[in-house]
Amino acid sequence: MRRIKSCFAEISSVWRTLKKVIAIYPGSFDPPTNGHLDLIARGSKIFDQLIVAILRNPEKGPLFSLSDRKRMLEAMTQNFKNVDVDTFDGLTVDYASKVKAGAVLRGIRAISDYEYELQMALMNRKLRPDLETVFMMPAEQYSYLSSRLVREIAQLGGSIKGLVPELVEQRLKEKLDPAIKLEHARGPKPRGRQ
Ligand code: PNS
Repeated sequence: MRRIKSCFAEISSVWRTLKKVIAIYPGSFDPPTNGHLDLIARGSKIFDQLIVAILRNPEKGPLFSLSDRKRMLEAMTQNFKNVDVDTFDGLTVDYASKVKAGAVLRGIRAISDYEYELQMALMNRKLRPDLETVFMMPAEQYSYLSSRLVREIAQLGGSIKGLVPELVEQRLKEKLDPAIKLEHARGPKPRGRQ
């Protein structure tokens, strides 16, 4: 009896390994926000592996380069053991097939997101019927947050504290005020009278 039980336990563990659910979380992430991070944390709890997939979208004229966005997301997700960061171009469904993902994670903040997200999810389903889209809601305090608004506020000199992780805030400051970057590169100012 004990042997049968252990045999079942082994089969179920092999089954779990085989059924590993990989999800991709595609987006522009220009820049990544606390809302994105909130969704990554939620996604990492329900998927075995979550790949944050940054779209190479030069035609959108992004503020941050692809490698900048990748570096920021890698730093933001370093404590999540089952989260990876990658970049892609072309169709999301093709990237999902390439990395053997069975699901696409997308965030829905408000009802206004729903129409666009539904259209995209249904089109992706038409292109690849076995790929499921999973919608998750970020915490309420991020329901009005978007990368576009963060860029706009930062560009107009407003405070983005609490909207993005500190490292993104710093990168935004450097991007928008190159003098800060120069100061960092030079290192701390010598103490005493100048
Ligand atoms: O963060 P965003 O800009 O809302 O993300 C949009 C994204 C990257 C998920 C969407 O534009 C996308 O999937 N682009 C890849 C090209 C593609 O597959 N297009 C067909 C979508 S139905």
